[in-house]
Amino acid sequence: VSVNYLGVGLGYRRELQVALESHTGEVDFLEVIGDECFEDTACEALDLWATRMPIVCHFLGLSLGTAEAIDEAYLTRVRTVIARLRPVWISDHLAMTRVQGVDLGHLSPIAFSEESVALIARKAADVQARCGLPLLLENISYDFSLPGGSMKEVEALTRVVQASDCRILLDLTNLHVNSQNHGYDPYAYLDELPLERVSQIHIGGAVLRGSSWVDSHAHEVPMPVFDYLDYTCARSTVSSILLERDRAIPDFSELAAEMSRARDILRAYRNCPLAG
Ligand SMILES: [Fe+2]
Repeated sequence: VSVNYLGVGLGYRRELQVALESHTGEVDFLEVIGDECFEDTACEALDLWATRMPIVCHFLGLSLGTAEAIDEAYLTRVRTVIARLRPVWISDHLAMTRVQGVDLGHLSPIAFSEESVALIARKAADVQARCGLPLLLENISYDFSLPGGSMKEVEALTRVVQASDCRILLDLTNLHVNSQNHGYDPYAYLDELPLERVSQIHIGGAVLRGSSWVDSHAHEVPMPVFDYLDYTCARSTVSSILLERDRAIPDFSELAAEMSRARDILRAYRNCPLAG
């Protein structure tokens, strides 16, 4: 997989459509939730964007962590979206979202065990081959660890991407949330992760509720996340950073400020064309 210099992008949400029209030049690429494109009409707004800038597709339902085989009907829909929007790559999570055909409605952690690593690697390699595009796997935030684990999360993610030859979508906000909630050093995590496999970074909002951090995607990006971004950019070739904002969408200027903060960090390490 060659390194793709997508720059600094924004997660596409319908509510952003109007603002995006007048700020197109400030966004290098868009990430689209693939599942929201399964309906033909919902995909129509995106056809035009796909002609204007690079698109990447983020999926929620491959459920790579489930013991069952990939849902063939789901994979067919994924491939239809790929054919239509021609994304640079696709991504999903190191998680399970469906068990025995029932949608869990959220991202559940996998067991960090030999067995689940082998299973997920097999499924991820299969999906990547059948989609004909790089598949990136994202680290999720999790409230609890499943029993039966024999390794740390970072080791499980590393082994899955190495065995499947997939890439990593590194969510630095999820790293912040997990490292705070589970009491580990985020820099040690970054030192252990094979950063040469990271193709894309997510930054997003999080909030402290009581004594726990929650990756709300509805608040500003916590400051330490930009420190992790700097640390990662200094030690890798990753050149594609995406801001996720799903709810409580503020004035575009606030999103632009977070994007330009990320862009300044990227510029310090990369010599690639960037917007803004
Ligand atoms: Fe994310």
